[in-house]
Amino acid sequence: MDKFVIQGGYPLKGTLPISGSKNAALPLIAAALLADGPVTITNIPLLQDIYTFNKVIEVTGTGLNFDQENRTLTVDPTTMSSYEAPYDQVRKMRASFYMAGALLGAAGYARVSLPGGCAWGPRPVNLHLEGLTALGATIEMDQGYVIAKAPNGRLPGGTFELKPSSVGATVNLILASVRAQNTSVIRNAAMEPDVVNLCENLNRLGARIEGVGTPTLEIEGVDRLSPGEMHNTPDRIETGTFMIAAAMLPGSDLTLTHTAEKDLGSFTETFSRLQTSLEVSPDTIRIRTPDDLPPISVETAIYPGFPTDLQAQWATMMTQANGLSNVTDHIYPDRFSYVPELNRLGADVQRHDNKAVIRGKSTLTGASVMSTDLRASVSLVMAGMAAKGETQVLRVYHLDRGYEGLETKLNSVGAHIRRIAE
Ligand code: EPZ
Repeated sequence: MDKFVIQGGYPLKGTLPISGSKNAALPLIAAALLADGPVTITNIPLLQDIYTFNKVIEVTGTGLNFDQENRTLTVDPTTMSSYEAPYDQVRKMRASFYMAGALLGAAGYARVSLPGGCAWGPRPVNLHLEGLTALGATIEMDQGYVIAKAPNGRLPGGTFELKPSSVGATVNLILASVRAQNTSVIRNAAMEPDVVNLCENLNRLGARIEGVGTPTLEIEGVDRLSPGEMHNTPDRIETGTFMIAAAMLPGSDLTLTHTAEKDLGSFTETFSRLQTSLEVSPDTIRIRTPDDLPPISVETAIYPGFPTDLQAQWATMMTQANGLSNVTDHIYPDRFSYVPELNRLGADVQRHDNKAVIRGKSTLTGASVMSTDLRASVSLVMAGMAAKGETQVLRVYHLDRGYEGLETKLNSVGAHIRRIAE
C-alpha cells in the first residue's frame, strides 16, 4: 500500500487541469448498456473506480475499449451475454449497483450483488429496490444478491417518490425506466450535475426525459437508444478540492482549467465568503489566497447545497482560519473519520454527532496519519501541505479511486509530495 511523504509550507502557484468527473462518468458507462450499438464516452478520468467499473461491465460480455491517452471509453453492448454483477467487484465500489437499473433496462433481468458499507457506515439501497419495484420489477434476495426481473422482459414503468432524495437511486431508476413500456415519474429526484449530465446524454441517444434539473423527472419509455457519443463533465469535487487547497496555503495563486463553474451550485458563493481573490469564467477559476482566513461554517445539503464530498476538505481548511467554525453533515452524519487524524497534526477539532467544531488558527506539525476514505485522504494531504515539517499519509490507494495523478498535479504547482510504495 503506497504512502505519501509530504514536506509542508509551500503555496500552490500555476495552472492545473481538472479531469473528467468520477461521479458523472460511472452513470454514463452504465447507461451505455442501454444502447443498441457502440457508445463512445469522452473525458473519462484515469481512476481506479473507472478501471473497477470497466471490469464489472466486461463480466457481462459487453465489448469495452478504454483509449486512456484520449480519455475516451467505447462500450459495445451488442455482445452482452450475461446479466450479473459479482460480489468481488461490487464490494470494491458501490456504484457498481448501477448495473441493477442498467441490466433491467437493457435485458429485463439483473443479478447484482448488494454493495457493502463504507468507511463511514451503512450505505442502504432500500430506495433503489423500492423504486425498481414501483417501476414494475420483481425483486428477490438470494445469498447477498438482488435478482430483479421485468415481467415479459420489459418494465412497464411507474411512479416513485424518493425519501430522502438519493443520487444513486435516481440514477438507477432513470436507467431502468428509459426503455420501459410506458411513462415513469420520479419525484424528489436528485438534481446533482451528475444526474443532469446523465439525462442530457441519454436524451441525445433518443431517450425522452422531461424535467431535467428539476426534482420531478418524467420519462417516456422508448423502444431503443441509438449508438453514438456521450460527453462527461469536469469533476466538480476535484475542482472544489483544489480551490480549498489553494485557499488554505498562504501565498497561493492557482488557476484551474477545464472546469465547469456552473456545476458548483452554491459552493462558489460560500467560497467567496473566504475573501480570497476569485476570478471565475465558464471553464477556468483563479484563486489567490489571503493571509487571514475568516471562519465560515457550512452545512451539507443535496444539490445545489454544500456538497458532502467537500465537507472534510472544508473542515481541514478551517483549522487555518482565525476563529471558531462548524461543519455539519446532514447527508452522512458519520463522515468524520478524518477528525482524529487532523488532531494528530495539531488541529483542534471536536466532533459532536454530525458536526465538527473547529477552533483555528492551529499551527499544524507533520506526523503520520491514516487515510480511511477518498475525501478524508485528500483532506489529510492538504493538511500535510499546510503543516510544518514532514507528514506521511498512509494508504493512499483511497486517493487513487477518485483523484487522477494527485501528487503529479500538486507537485506541478509547487507542492512537495513523494509517493513511496510500501
Ligand atoms: C453519491 O453516492 C456519490 N457517489 C457520493 O460520492 C456522494 O457523497 C453522495 O452521492 C451524496 O452526494 C457516486 O456518485 C458514485 P445517495 P450515493 O444515495 O448515490 C441515503 C465520493 O466521495 N440513502 O445520494 O450512494 C444515504 O444513506 C462519493 O465520490 C438511503 O437511505 O448517495 C444518504 O444518507 C462518496 N437509501 C443519502 O440517502 C438508499 O437507498 C444520500 O445518499 C440510498 C440512499
